[in-house]
Amino acid sequence: MLLLILLTEELPVPAALYPLNGLHGTRDIGPNKNPAGKPNGVHLAPGPFGHPQGSYRFSGSFSSYIEIPNNGGLDTRSITILAWINHENENGPIVNYGEDDWGFHFWVVNGRLFGRLSGSSPYAITPYNLSKNWHYVGTSYNFSSGVVKLWINGSEVAQEISGSEEQSTQYNVRMGAKDSTTDQRYLKGRIYCLQIYNKSLSQQEIIAVQNRTLNTYDLPVPTAFYPLNAQHLTHDLSANKNPAGKPNGVHLAPGPFGHPQGSYQFSGSSTSYIEIPNNGGLDTRYSVTILAWLNQENDDGPIVNFGSDVWGFHFWVVNGRLFARPSRRADRAQQKNAFSSSLSRTWNYVGTSYNFSEVAHEISGSAEQKTQYDVRMGAKASDQRSKIFSTSLRCRRTATKRCRKNVQSVYSDGVFVTLFSYDRV
Ligand SMILES: *[C@@H]1O[C@H](CO)[C@@H](O)[C@H](O)[C@H]1NC(C)=O
Ligand SMILES: *[C@@H]1O[C@H](CO)[C@@H](O)[C@H](O)[C@H]1NC(C)=O
Ligand SMILES: *[C@@H]1O[C@H](CO)[C@@H](O)[C@H](O)[C@H]1NC(C)=O
Ligand SMILES: *[C@@H]1O[C@H](CO)[C@@H](O)[C@H](O)[C@H]1NC(C)=O
Ligand SMILES: *[C@@H]1O[C@H](CO)[C@@H](O)[C@H](O)[C@H]1NC(C)=O
Ligand SMILES: *[C@@H]1O[C@H](CO)[C@@H](O)[C@H](O)[C@H]1NC(C)=O
Repeated sequence: MLLLILLTEELPVPAALYPLNGLHGTRDIGPNKNPAGKPNGVHLAPGPFGHPQGSYRFSGSFSSYIEIPNNGGLDTRSITILAWINHENENGPIVNYGEDDWGFHFWVVNGRLFGRLSGSSPYAITPYNLSKNWHYVGTSYNFSSGVVKLWINGSEVAQEISGSEEQSTQYNVRMGAKDSTTDQRYLKGRIYCLQIYNKSLSQQEIIAVQNRTLNTYDLPVPTAFYPLNAQHLTHDLSANKNPAGKPNGVHLAPGPFGHPQGSYQFSGSSTSYIEIPNNGGLDTRYSVTILAWLNQENDDGPIVNFGSDVWGFHFWVVNGRLFARPSRRADRAQQKNAFSSSLSRTWNYVGTSYNFSEVAHEISGSAEQKTQYDVRMGAKASDQRSKIFSTSLRCRRTATKRCRKNVQSVYSDGVFVTLFSYDRV
């Protein structure tokens, strides 16, 4: 999780990020929240990674396009435009600033990739035709150097000195077709994940943002996110800015990815714990997911216990197994619990999720939870088992709202990504 966070912070911030897939439609999921693209005569189609609704397909006609209104959020000086394309014909706009004008334009022209500042400036074009399959393509313009570059799969494939000029990037953006019957070059093919940056990205950055919608903005927003390492100590990095955990009798220790201060060590006594004050920011009430990396050295004790000396929602190690138990808010009744098989004494990425909407009989039942209490990690105030609990913990992350799809963890180059989907309730 530390790696994921660093990666996130180091990635350049997009001026616009349109995934163009079934999940997000034509919406911008970037921080600028630009208007959604207006789709016309386009439909969802398979994307570059096999998802059946992983792109939009343009039919190659005047009336098949996406128009993105530009209220200033797409207006840049230096610029980088990136997208996945799979073209089926030889000519048409990927991105054209101007409905029927020549602002900055990024096209397929005579089967080649093409980038140009205006209708009359020097342009960059690939020296070869682009094969008709998926490519991760891009163009960048560096105002300081005046150079326009073209990129395919993270490699620079063409450049041209165009001069330092302010761009006509104030126009609305057209993808697929300009609003022109005189210029009948309309793109036939598919486009996935349009990214626009307000600067000329380096090659390293272009490679780094290649999978950006898969590993950053598509992630669910955590209610609380405590890295529990040397860099962030017990502070919450989430937008909720919950109070920092109060560490007591714990110390920094090596983490799951080899960092010497990548976790907190709990000593397995009643005075070794982290207490997180809950001012309401952790009170998920209904559905909840709690995730952490855990390397336990004994068999019993709390990972997360809502309530410093009471039984709110709790997520423990019990008899060497993972244990989670919801706790009905309305009264003292505890709900049915879930147990895992026994846990190996190494780093494990563990979690529990409670689905409030899941009303199935044999399950725990649907009840508002006791998540209003302060949170205890490592030791509950008066429970024998706290005395023998010893563990290293890092990176606690609580996600709220109701999960729609299953939670799944995906490892890629040692960085893990956790995917959820939420009902926006
Ligand atoms: C791009 O950056 C410039 C200078 O930092 C700023 O004035 C402009 O508002 C930015 N545009 C967008 C679309 O973020
Ligand atoms: C590239 O595409 C153009 C336009 O369709 C075509 O005329 C040309 O023959 C193609 N070149 C190659 C090498 O396939
Ligand atoms: C770009 O990468 C894709 C696979 O992601 C590959 O199919 C395509 O041929 C590559 N394009 C070029 C020009 O190498
Ligand atoms: C943009 O051009 C300036 C001036 O030539 C140069 O210092 C800078 O490194 C360039 N930026 C990128 C990302 O290439
Ligand atoms: C992006 O994802 C694809 C498909 O999962 C993978 O092949 C590729 O290596 C990834 N690229 C980066 C830079 O992580
Ligand atoms: C939660 O329960 C609802 C109702 O049974 C179900 O539709 C939904 O898929 C469940 N969510 C998850 C993440 O399992």
